[in-house]
Amino acid sequence: MFKKVSGTRDILPEEAAIWQRLEEISRKTFSQYNFQEIRPPLIEEAALFNRSLGESTEIVQKQMFLIKNKDETYCLRPEATASIVRAYIENNLHKTNGFVKLYYIGPMFRLERPQKGRLRQFQHIGCEAIGSSDPALDVEIISLADNLLRNFSIADYRIKINSLGCSADKKKLVDSLRKGLKTKLEKLCPECVNRFKVNPLRILDCKNDACKEAISGLGISDSHLCADCKGHFNKVKTGLDALKINYEVNPFLVRGLDYYTGTVFEIAQKDLGSQDAIGAGGRYNNLVKELGGEEAGAIGFAFGVERVLLAQSEKIKPQDKNLVYLISLGEPAKLEGLKILATLRKNGVPCDTNYEDKSLKGSLRKANDLNSRLVLIIGDNEIEKGVITLKDMASGKQKEVKTKDILREVK
Ligand code: HAM
Repeated sequence: MFKKVSGTRDILPEEAAIWQRLEEISRKTFSQYNFQEIRPPLIEEAALFNRSLGESTEIVQKQMFLIKNKDETYCLRPEATASIVRAYIENNLHKTNGFVKLYYIGPMFRLERPQKGRLRQFQHIGCEAIGSSDPALDVEIISLADNLLRNFSIADYRIKINSLGCSADKKKLVDSLRKGLKTKLEKLCPECVNRFKVNPLRILDCKNDACKEAISGLGISDSHLCADCKGHFNKVKTGLDALKINYEVNPFLVRGLDYYTGTVFEIAQKDLGSQDAIGAGGRYNNLVKELGGEEAGAIGFAFGVERVLLAQSEKIKPQDKNLVYLISLGEPAKLEGLKILATLRKNGVPCDTNYEDKSLKGSLRKANDLNSRLVLIIGDNEIEKGVITLKDMASGKQKEVKTKDILREVK
């Protein structure tokens, strides 16, 4: 028997209905902020991510699902920000639309070691606003993330924010880390010893206690920020305060992707255990230019849907289908039933019937399991009289209705 690939999931119908509801809430919320949907492909040139996320990042080093084809290497996208920036440049969106607000919902792929809340195929609900460096946009994006979480019924989450500053500021931070940690290398975990060489910023958010202790003495704050970046970050904080959004400034928040500059944020939820980031994002003001476009400030975030579902305090309910269930007993009734189903469906009434050769009792049980609001019963008796028996499942009451009146009665 074949089994699904490790780190992937079958979303069975019951759960898929909840996903649909979550997507519906997302689309509605995004449209309240005037975001429009974009659907980039799931495969891209691998080099797009090497360039955007950075050669030394964990994703590029270890987690890409690569597809070799002749001389080219494609990959299943590990995230969507780089794809969307590519699409923005390739489709000249800056010329036709100027500032754009885009959202996306779809699967991402990372070759990770699977565990609770960490999958190899997982779903992002995310957005990107490209073409502005206004700090008010950072506030809008964080408030949108906050609003989405509330609409998803997520409680007990913390919004952590930080500013990495511009490229020069980031370099300053890296230099001071290299200087400060040079003599403490033996205290760092093996991974951070490697990070010290290739990506020292990541040492700041290492969860290892020894590494945390080594960096705690370095007095990391906002001293690496230039006046512009400090001013930008202050405006972001003032805006969040004005909207009464709860946040905490965490100078150790750096994020794992190289494209970030300026404001970064991560949202943690306490019930998620070790994989507690339910979503994250930030500014990436250099990426459009780096990928061949014109200079354009940009910011976005993404939520992991599987983690959103794990963290829900109040489970989102799928929308009730208001199903009508038709039970036909005997061959002549079957044909009559098919005609009635066709009429109901043509008129927008969701309905189903018994295909499993069940008894009346068994079919009624099935109708009940499907949460049907009405059951229509047709047997030889009903055909003879030109009626249909209609049973209201909530009250249990039943009556006979003329066949020609059934649509009006059901509606
Ligand atoms: P990220 O932090 O890599 O950011 O992913 C965003 C969210 O996706 C995480 O906070 C987490 O909830 C979820 N996630 C990540 N990896 C997995 C996994 N293996 N299994 C389950 N869930 C996962 C990005 O991808 C950026 N593109 C976000 C962004 C958009 N920044 C700017 N714009």
